[in-house]
Amino acid sequence: MDDLDRRWEEFENSCRSCKDCDLCNGRNNVVIYRGGRKAPLMIIGEAPGESEDLEGKPFVGRSGKLLQHLIKSFGIRDEDYHICNICKCRPPQNRRPLPNEIKACKKHLAEQFRLVDPKIILLCGSTAYEGFFNEKPLMGDVRGVFTVKNGYEIMVTYHPAYALRNPKMKIPMMEDFEKVYKRLVELKLIEPSPAINR
Ligand code: URA
Repeated sequence: MDDLDRRWEEFENSCRSCKDCDLCNGRNNVVIYRGGRKAPLMIIGEAPGESEDLEGKPFVGRSGKLLQHLIKSFGIRDEDYHICNICKCRPPQNRRPLPNEIKACKKHLAEQFRLVDPKIILLCGSTAYEGFFNEKPLMGDVRGVFTVKNGYEIMVTYHPAYALRNPKMKIPMMEDFEKVYKRLVELKLIEPSPAINR
């Protein structure tokens, strides 16, 4: 086992044994990530829902299907992204995570950043934005532009669940994904996809 595998094992164990907030009481699984362990793109959502809690992986339900469709339509390979959430345990009735729950999960997310070492971060939805920037966004104002923070290029887009409820929003989400794809190619972090001719 190399050093990185050891660090991942320690990290996953510390997430699985975490009891730092009350969300630990209702969970079936601590939902840590899917995708590559080292990846240029990190995609961050809000918190696991029912399917994610049962399966132990983020974005595997209806929202996840839309997210996966967007990722795949730009030919981004599974090893080039890492998907996780601001909170790793499911809030009851899928409510938004509370500030103390987001805070309790931050130390895990910080270690996850160190391990994954992404260059571009895509935040999905206002909770992910708030968890990152500590302020409530007006999504229409902040989405679709890159901001640099702590050496990461960060973009926020709509949450896929919002786009499922408001199908028109799939268009701006697609535009945001295109910007992310283009930036990854520009920085030579991924190969251009032969499927994309833009
Ligand atoms: N919504 C999220 O924000 N994250 C998931 O993992 C699933 C749904």
